[in-house]
Amino acid sequence: MKNIKFNKDFLIGAATSGPQTESGFDLDKKSESVWDFWHKTNPELFFDGLAPQNNVRKNFKDLVRMAKDTNLNSLRTSIQWTRFMPDGKNISQEALEFYREYFSELKRNNIKVMACLMHFDVPMWLHEKGGFETKESIEHFVLYAENAFKSFGDLVDTWFVFNEPIVPVEMGYFNTLHLPGIIDVKKGYQVLFNYLITCLKTIKKFKSLEMKSEIGVIVNITPPIPRTQSKEDQEAAEWFAIFQYKSFLDPIIHGEFPQKLLEHAVKHNYMWEASQEEWDLIASKVGIDLLGLNYYSPKRVQKPIKQNGFDLFKPLEEQLWSNYTYPGARMNVHRNWEILPEAIYTVIKNVQNNYNNQKMFISENGIGVAKEQVFKSDNRIQDAYRIEFFKEHLVWVHKAIQEGANCIGYHIWTLVDNWSWLNAYKNRYGLYELECATGETRAKLSQEWFSKFALKKEFDE
Ligand code: BGC
Repeated sequence: MKNIKFNKDFLIGAATSGPQTESGFDLDKKSESVWDFWHKTNPELFFDGLAPQNNVRKNFKDLVRMAKDTNLNSLRTSIQWTRFMPDGKNISQEALEFYREYFSELKRNNIKVMACLMHFDVPMWLHEKGGFETKESIEHFVLYAENAFKSFGDLVDTWFVFNEPIVPVEMGYFNTLHLPGIIDVKKGYQVLFNYLITCLKTIKKFKSLEMKSEIGVIVNITPPIPRTQSKEDQEAAEWFAIFQYKSFLDPIIHGEFPQKLLEHAVKHNYMWEASQEEWDLIASKVGIDLLGLNYYSPKRVQKPIKQNGFDLFKPLEEQLWSNYTYPGARMNVHRNWEILPEAIYTVIKNVQNNYNNQKMFISENGIGVAKEQVFKSDNRIQDAYRIEFFKEHLVWVHKAIQEGANCIGYHIWTLVDNWSWLNAYKNRYGLYELECATGETRAKLSQEWFSKFALKKEFDE
């Protein structure tokens, strides 16, 4: 049995987000986000038709107590733009008080506050004007961010501009699973570029305010694994990496876009709108303090199956790479995601070797399981599989750190079962079970294990 030990300052915590936990839709003059709107108009698209049932807007003290009971030293959530600045112009005083109380409660319990400014929840008023397809969105966001920095700067330890900016682009413009649900390569890259500029301008604004805290961004740099070592399969993997993270991370860390993408965009007429000032901003390498890495699963790819020309109104997947189902894969059948713990090491080593060993942490890792009730005995979900999942991944995180990776923490998704986009409450990720009908929470077996690990910062493999 090997002992796996992290240093005493290692961040051990959990991640969640405002739209997935707060509820309280009728409070603070909150306006609708794209998700609130979508659920209202198309509830049948959501598992069991459910909207968020967690009630952190009212019960934030319960959440903090559970974080404390689990010995977490840090917690990430997100501020909802639609709550804090419902019309995009004015601050809701009630929302300001809520977030201040919530973050103060975390601080009183010695839990570091990590606050993300957007977790997929674009305000509906902005979406109606074209959302992040427009340049106008950038200034709206920076204004919101500035107000948040000034309102909560004394309480937040680390800020993140976005969570997984590629996801709304991928789901909303390269397939139809999120709003606006269109397939349009040019618009998709325009949105991604505008997110990037928003991110850089927000960081610049933050730096100009000379705050004591840190700022960064959270990305999911899913590692592609080519089916074979053939040139075509490797090229497919390269395209996937360009799409999935290089198009965002290269400009942030290296101050430039992948050349292959720029050439392809020019050749196929999807070059997005960008001013000289924006290119200069990218080249100026504004930089980040901390990079969050969400890791759940690798991506198996092979050369594209359909290859006749490039169509701007067809998914990139199919045209630049194709999915490959690896026959020997160990699957999380509930989510149809492959479980490959060593790929978390690949993710961290990628940052160590290719992104200047940027200070980083694992900002999400976890396993979503459906119908966890079947694992219940003695009134507790006996989720030994979740403990195994954490241990297996932590071993690889530890190995990367031993080899010099500047990885300063590990956050799980998530502390209490919460709502997940279209899946709603189908797959549960929490250390605590949430009973939707009553709002009651109960610790699962994994909570006991995780609280011991978080306290000692070590475990036996
Ligand atoms: C997202 C979360 C989501 C989780 C589980 C992550 O990539 O950041 O919002 O709930 O995946 O699906």
